[in-house]
Amino acid sequence: MTKSIGVIGGGQLARMMIAPAQVMGISIKVLAESEDSPASLAATQVGDYKDVATVRAFASTVDVITFDHEHVPLDVLETLEAEGYEFQPSSKALRFAQNKLDMRSALTELGVPCPKWAKVQSSEELDEFINSSGSVAILKTPTGGYDGKGVRVVRSSADALDWLAKREPLLVEEKVDFVRELAQLSARNKSGSWSSWTLVETIQKDGVCAEVHSPATSSNGELAAQIAKTIAEGLNVTGVLAVELFETADGRLLVNELAMRPHNSGHFSIEGSKTSQFEQHLRAALDMPLGDTAATKPFAVMLNVLGQNDTNTFGLVDRMVDGASIHVYGKSARVGRKMGHITALSDESLEDARQIALKVWEGLQA
Ligand SMILES: Nc1ncnc2c1ncn2[C@@H]1O[C@H](COP(=O)(O)OP(=O)(O)O)[C@@H](O)[C@H]1O
Ligand SMILES: [Mg+2]
Repeated sequence: MTKSIGVIGGGQLARMMIAPAQVMGISIKVLAESEDSPASLAATQVGDYKDVATVRAFASTVDVITFDHEHVPLDVLETLEAEGYEFQPSSKALRFAQNKLDMRSALTELGVPCPKWAKVQSSEELDEFINSSGSVAILKTPTGGYDGKGVRVVRSSADALDWLAKREPLLVEEKVDFVRELAQLSARNKSGSWSSWTLVETIQKDGVCAEVHSPATSSNGELAAQIAKTIAEGLNVTGVLAVELFETADGRLLVNELAMRPHNSGHFSIEGSKTSQFEQHLRAALDMPLGDTAATKPFAVMLNVLGQNDTNTFGLVDRMVDGASIHVYGKSARVGRKMGHITALSDESLEDARQIALKVWEGLQA
């Protein structure tokens, strides 16, 4: 019998689940924000994911529901789970990807290494933390942030009066002096099988992921995988889990944050791994056996293509490029918006893969 999956959110992550769903004979439907969402290539219902009746109506048309983003309110998920609808990951796991304060508490309880952190609500509490952390800290809104929105460097509470005025708890962290940022991608199905990909390096520009290099130049591969497994099992995560990490000069790993869905750091896996993160996410969510995550080539580099202006739509790409693949998300243009990505593979080196990808990127600007 055909299995059906519903994806809440119609962005590029849902869009990239469509191809493997088609190959595996899985029926895929999307609850999208608008008619022209990137994932509206699949059967699409347009509606508000914050509205319980809308999500219920969508959920009743599929076997299992999963996500393109983590913004569905927890009470909506809990209400529908109590009625028997199945979400993968479940609300019990997803809450730790929705709220960075809950995530820090849970990881600390699991004994996973994190930056020094505290929950603060007042200027006094924030200043006390900053003063005890070398006069600088990173302040975060616990929910709703992405691509660096909701993350701020603070040197005193005066830098955060607008956030403090809301009188809601904030997450403050030591500013980690990292040598590189890494991401450990893995997936776990409902039966508990778990599988990871190679540890990758992520390079952010202005808080947005710009490049991903696989494998990372790091000797911490085994440790990162162990941390990811501890988190996946400890929080009962199902589907793809991305663990963002900092690596310090003295070789320590600290967890930055979690995503419980396919992640920008795993786009390389479409061409660079025998099983892509999108296929694996569907397999895990539907409790199918997980696929082989071995690399197809020793080196992969992914570059995000961000909107340069508000008119260049980065539409149909009609050029063939040896050794590289261009992915187009079908979005209307906006400066800084993730419009697509380029992946290049190489037998030689990361630098070789990067040069191929850059050549393609330059061709797109021409
Ligand atoms: N404690 C920290 N120390 C140093 N840099 C940080 C810290 N937390 C976040 N950052 C920087 O800010 C970026 C975005 O933070 P993150 O919590 O991952 O937010 P987002 O949800 O926007 O991805 C990180 O990729 C990293 O470059
Ligand atoms: Mg992040």
